[in-house]
Amino acid sequence: MPNLTNSSVAIIGLGLIGGSIARALKIRVPGITLFASDINQDNLDLAVSEGVIDKTGDLKECVEDADIIILALPPLLVAEIIPLLPNLVNEHAVITDVASVKNVINEALNTTPKDFQSRFVLGHPIAGSEKSGYHAASESLFLDRNIILTPSKEVLSSSVAKVNELWRLLGANILGLNLERHDSILAATSHLPHLLAYSLVDVLVEQNKGGDIFRYAAGGFADFSRLASSNPIMWADIFISNAVKTEQILDTYIHKLLEFKELIKAENRSELMSKFSTAKISRDNFIENLYKSNEANENHMRTISYSVEPSKKIEGSIKVPGDKSISHRGIIFGSIADGVTEINGFLEGEDTLKTLAAFQEMGVTIIGPDNGKVIIYGVGVNGLRQPRVALYMGNSGTAMRLVAGVLAGQKFESQLSGDESLSKRPMKRIVNPLCEFGAEIKMAPGGNPPLHINGAKLNGKHYDMEVASAQVKSCLLIAGIYATGKTSITESIPSRDHTERMLKAFAYPVTRDDESGKISIEGGGNLVGTKIDIPADISSAAFFMVAAAISQSGEIKLRDVGINPTRTGILSLLNLMGVDIEISNRREIGGEPVADITVRSSNIKAITVPMELVPLAIDEFPVFCVAAACAEGTTILRGAEELRVKESDRIESMALGLRNLGISVRTFSDGMEIEGGVIRGGEVDSYSDHRVAMAFAVSSVRANDKVLIKNCANVGTSFPGFVSLAASIGLNILEI
Ligand code: S3P
Repeated sequence: MPNLTNSSVAIIGLGLIGGSIARALKIRVPGITLFASDINQDNLDLAVSEGVIDKTGDLKECVEDADIIILALPPLLVAEIIPLLPNLVNEHAVITDVASVKNVINEALNTTPKDFQSRFVLGHPIAGSEKSGYHAASESLFLDRNIILTPSKEVLSSSVAKVNELWRLLGANILGLNLERHDSILAATSHLPHLLAYSLVDVLVEQNKGGDIFRYAAGGFADFSRLASSNPIMWADIFISNAVKTEQILDTYIHKLLEFKELIKAENRSELMSKFSTAKISRDNFIENLYKSNEANENHMRTISYSVEPSKKIEGSIKVPGDKSISHRGIIFGSIADGVTEINGFLEGEDTLKTLAAFQEMGVTIIGPDNGKVIIYGVGVNGLRQPRVALYMGNSGTAMRLVAGVLAGQKFESQLSGDESLSKRPMKRIVNPLCEFGAEIKMAPGGNPPLHINGAKLNGKHYDMEVASAQVKSCLLIAGIYATGKTSITESIPSRDHTERMLKAFAYPVTRDDESGKISIEGGGNLVGTKIDIPADISSAAFFMVAAAISQSGEIKLRDVGINPTRTGILSLLNLMGVDIEISNRREIGGEPVADITVRSSNIKAITVPMELVPLAIDEFPVFCVAAACAEGTTILRGAEELRVKESDRIESMALGLRNLGISVRTFSDGMEIEGGVIRGGEVDSYSDHRVAMAFAVSSVRANDKVLIKNCANVGTSFPGFVSLAASIGLNILEI
């Protein structure tokens, strides 16, 4: 765990950013020694007189004894200084910068020795202001602000952790981005607005020759032109450093301006209003949901419904997003591993992003996700930092239960909270066994979240699981890493085994006795960072399998789907129902079996669900119910009481919705009986359950009339892009 107490930090450039870092470090880090170098001697004298800086000097004098070197200079100057540094800094020093453009610096870095590159962590605090200079520096400049780190995969995890810790101590939130993407995004969100502000003021200055138009300008002009008060030297440097990307976005912008000019000329009021409305909604959303981000204004602010008309044909060859279960685990294990982990195919859904954000909050630097790619700089089993806020897990039971397994054995206190649905879900199933291992956890009355976890010393034990739940099993296996001795678990019916498989991929031994079903893990080991390829999620693919199966005509191919035998219950069930399924191109990717699945329109027969298939298809029952509604005969599902404690009570949600659509359904405490029939169409509520919403969207394929589904905002938790993918294969779906 990096510790900056008593370390020495050199700050090269004592302007707004460098000065603010210095002020904050001096106050927040006991025993720290600060060296500074700047061309402006007045800045240095002032900082020394204030007791902020301990020693000043030239570049060499400042950096030679420093543990951390911060280049707080404009980008071109950073690029100029970099080649000098390898001969000046000590061999353990970690170097970082704060420039707004990264590519130009990376190019300079590429000319330096590999060892130096591996200790240089490119960074950018997006916390500046139009003010500049040391006199404007403030120790609170970085509080709750975002810092973007853009290290390459070759940078040492230990160096990244040190820079992460430095910013964390200053109260910042640390995000990671791919370097090229950083420069493109910043060109659009920061560099372009600065250019517009400068150019607007320039235009007005020219207009104003000898006049006094500024006397009549007010808030609008002041707001828009604020950025034109920024430091001209620095901004000239930024535009030159990021010329190509700024030019690209500027061309797009010029085009847009000409478009607006034409609309104004043509007095096209409706088009102007429509464009302004789109911009207003996006800007309001940004301010409300991102800039002033807080969990209270999450999903329930967004009321999304699906309006789905019947469709005739379902066809296509598609790939659904990455597996949710594997994505959560990739983040967890990558974070507590030693070294760097690269994930491809990561599910960029709201649930998995909660797990990602939780580990970022605990001091892990994570780059991405960027098109499914995530790079994690692991901090090691004991390298997590105490979260500064309650970790908010949104709608995700998996995130809460698995992360609780990590937190139970830490040396710090923490809290886990969730949205309305998660706050009603049972947690005793993990809290009771964890407490048997020695954990100290408090729940809300009723055994629900939030969880207050007092990190404790855990002792490995044997635990016989009461519910067949991969979340419980995984939570305990993860806690087992932190426990002394051996932790073992027996499950009555096998549940998904991604945790066991992935621990092995991270070189952490887990054994399973096939006869007794006992799974064991020894505490105290280390995980080794690795590369993980995540297959498409069979639980998401299932919606389209059923859509094709119940369609009047059609065939759909789902590519690269994970077919781990502990997840293929839905394939077995559809097979039993007589669905025409073909599995091809079987292979293994990253320790998980994968294949292409083709499903054709079929005459479906009712079945009685074999009990042993229930845990293997646990997430697929909402859409299975839709298949049952289209089957000939009565389908019986029992032994599935777990469905009552998912994101909604799925037995009730599905029964109520199916009845609204004209299907006869009986419910039991542990299941339901569905009589196949005609789906009439009508209005249903998903009860904010993502899988219920998507299942009813699929029911429209066989409906006689429109199906309107309420409360669909949570579909984004597991299946971002569902609506457009569904539309691409023939669902007549609209988001309203
Ligand atoms: C999951 C396990 C299942 C499943 C959930 C994901 C996991 O829950 O419903 O969507 O990733 O371990 P249970 O194990 O509690 O049944």
